[in-house]
Amino acid sequence: MATSERANFGSKIGIILASAGSAVGLGNIWRFPYLTGEDGGAAFILVYVCCVLFFGVPVMVAEFLIGRRSRANTGQAYDVLAPGTPWKWVGMMGVLAAFLILGYYGVVAGWTLEYTVASASGAFLGAKDFTAYFNDFVSNPWRPVVYMFLFMLLTHVIVVRGVKEGIERCSKVMMPLLLLIICVLVVCSLSLPGAADGLTFLLKPDFSKITGEVLLDAMGQTFFSMSVGMGCLCTYASYFTKDANLMKTAGSVALIDTSVAVLAGFVIFPAVFSVPGLSVDAGPGLVFVTLPNVFHLAFEGMPGLGYVFSLMFYVLLVLATLTSTISLHEVATAYLHERFGFSRRKAAIWVTSICTVLGVLCALSFGVLNGVRLGGMTLFDLSDFLTAKLMLPLGGMFISIFTGWYLDRRIVREEVTNGGRLRIPFFGFYIFLLKYVAPIGIASIFINELIR
Ligand code: TRP
Repeated sequence: MATSERANFGSKIGIILASAGSAVGLGNIWRFPYLTGEDGGAAFILVYVCCVLFFGVPVMVAEFLIGRRSRANTGQAYDVLAPGTPWKWVGMMGVLAAFLILGYYGVVAGWTLEYTVASASGAFLGAKDFTAYFNDFVSNPWRPVVYMFLFMLLTHVIVVRGVKEGIERCSKVMMPLLLLIICVLVVCSLSLPGAADGLTFLLKPDFSKITGEVLLDAMGQTFFSMSVGMGCLCTYASYFTKDANLMKTAGSVALIDTSVAVLAGFVIFPAVFSVPGLSVDAGPGLVFVTLPNVFHLAFEGMPGLGYVFSLMFYVLLVLATLTSTISLHEVATAYLHERFGFSRRKAAIWVTSICTVLGVLCALSFGVLNGVRLGGMTLFDLSDFLTAKLMLPLGGMFISIFTGWYLDRRIVREEVTNGGRLRIPFFGFYIFLLKYVAPIGIASIFINELIR
């Protein structure tokens, strides 16, 4: 498709905020804190930051340059850069992953919406037993389905409006708001009695906690949280302007993504430590079961504050999640739109419908469909396993091999330096990371997940 017909982001800040919007999501505020809680706090965070620098950033730059060079969605980008080769399957796997991830991510997205509504109505803090609240809600035959569907509709409406008017505009409003809310929450949380223990947990590394498994958790989390490995950012980069600095953009996105994850830790752990008897290794329930207890107990004498704190927290989750679901939706929508010539609206309707069907199946797997298992996993767990644990690492590995070994070095240099206009000091080191460090590192996660 000719460059002039294709949508573009309008500004550099729009490019950074939209990409950061994709990256910052449930991965940062829900998944990162619970992994940090399970995997030993500060030591896990250190390992995670290394993974971001050595795997996350290089693969992100690779996705950016594939997308901007080809000016095509992930599903077709490899046909442009490597016509007639099997590399196209890397792109196709990305499109498939987008459908699958959105299907189960949409379920958790729906939970965040329900918790926001319940917080706002006051129904939430009235509940005493949050484990029961959570379990009743997720196993209900229709409520999680309705909220999942509402979230899909919200995503749909934004994607249909287009790249500049929908995605960029909404990221430009939501991302600053999100950063503001999280900073306010950090201050509130740090002022709770007992916050110091939470800080120690986050800042004082205990290196004996770093096991092989912790390393692998950190690597998997890096891909998931940075939205890399399936061409999500590749599709966004196909809308980048020619003057965007790819390295700098990736650096900024990585910095924002990691900061939000760590700040989420600063909101959650001081709060959890301020209530005696609550455990930091609550797993996926940390944000939906443990944290509500904090809102309830830590603010017992000041119900007004508890109300505001919980409402702000779940609004934060919704905002972060929405900018991520639109990026997943866009991958599939752009593919159907450009590959099959559907109008954007028609393509989006297809994506929303298919993901809603997948979402219903995943949502019900906590209740009526709980008995339907494949390899011992519910449909929800299966989707998470297939995508986060298999498809993303595999995709990330192929993307780094494609860029490091297959793609003409001249093309890589041209994209990274914008045709020689930018000076990139560590270009050789970047190529080294792409050729050796990333593929070998990623292959080891992947193999480990397979044999576990
Ligand atoms: N990165 C998002 C998060 O942290 C989720 C996400 C959006 C994603 N797009 C993606 C994950 C593409 C993997 C691939 O919540």
